[in-house]
Amino acid sequence: MGSRYDLAIITGGSSGIGYSIIEGYLKLEPDASIFNLSRRKPASFSNVPERQHLECDLSDKNQRKKVLDELERRIRSAKGQGRILLVNNAGFGLYGETGDTPPEEHLELLEVNVCALVEITTRLLPLIKERGGSIMNIASTSAFQPTPHLSTYGASKAFVLNWTLALNDELKGSGVNAIAVCPGPTKTEFFKRAGFKDRVVPAGYSHDPEQVANMALRALNAGKPFTVTGLLNKLASLFSTMLPLALRTRVAGRVIRRFRPNPENQ
Ligand SMILES: NC(=O)c1ccc[n+]([C@@H]2O[C@H](COP(=O)([O-])OP(=O)(O)OC[C@H]3O[C@@H](n4cnc5c(N)ncnc54)[C@H](OP(=O)(O)O)[C@@H]3O)[C@@H](O)[C@H]2O)c1
Repeated sequence: MGSRYDLAIITGGSSGIGYSIIEGYLKLEPDASIFNLSRRKPASFSNVPERQHLECDLSDKNQRKKVLDELERRIRSAKGQGRILLVNNAGFGLYGETGDTPPEEHLELLEVNVCALVEITTRLLPLIKERGGSIMNIASTSAFQPTPHLSTYGASKAFVLNWTLALNDELKGSGVNAIAVCPGPTKTEFFKRAGFKDRVVPAGYSHDPEQVANMALRALNAGKPFTVTGLLNKLASLFSTMLPLALRTRVAGRVIRRFRPNPENQ
């Protein structure tokens, strides 16, 4: 990425893929200013004035509004006036029968995975257009087909993919581009938070978050509108999109059903 950005803003940089994106970015830009929005503070943010944590529960509209006011104020008073990188990474999944999960949990997921991403991006877009820059949105390979037992999650990621591609097209010629990153299974806190039993995907089929972050940053640098991380994930996504929609849904349901939580572990 070289010195392409003066400033980065990330959501969900406290763990997993987001944490690794911050680390990957700081390797290229050790002195860069970076703002993180999440509930927990990233471990590497202590006592470094250029790394600022803004605590926020992104599922809460009032907290989002307050933190975005504060973020804009801090960005406008920061010294650099160069390009901005916005990474919308915060997100989580919910595994189970759709009707067995309380409605508030589905809505919380949509607030974080969809509403926060749209609000943060549209709110910061005028500033990013003024200064130039990029928007990276973390979708998922779940975006390529309906995902029974992860219904709200998969649909939220289909939204992220399609919305980002549409936005990138609209932004042509503006000095700003957008990229949707579609990781496959990655070794993070995601599975536990979603309610899966411990290891749902064999280690050989999942990436480390550092690998995903590096692939995402490379794709951003190459100016791609979207990327699926890793060859197996690329092939699986391509195969899935070649199937008729109803069949694609059935195949996904069969695969995901195999990951049912183990009642003995509950
Ligand atoms: N792991 C995978 O297999 C996989 C595959 C495809 C896509 N993804 C996507 O990758 C992104 C990162 O997930 P991950 O795998 O790195 O999982 P993770 O380790 O659980 O990280 C999730 C991040 O999102 C933040 N977050 C969640 N709810 C939040 C809330 N209410 N308010 C603020 N921040 C919130 C968390 O921060 P706090 O807890 O500090 O608030 C955390 O930093 C997500 O969008 C996920 O859907 C993951």
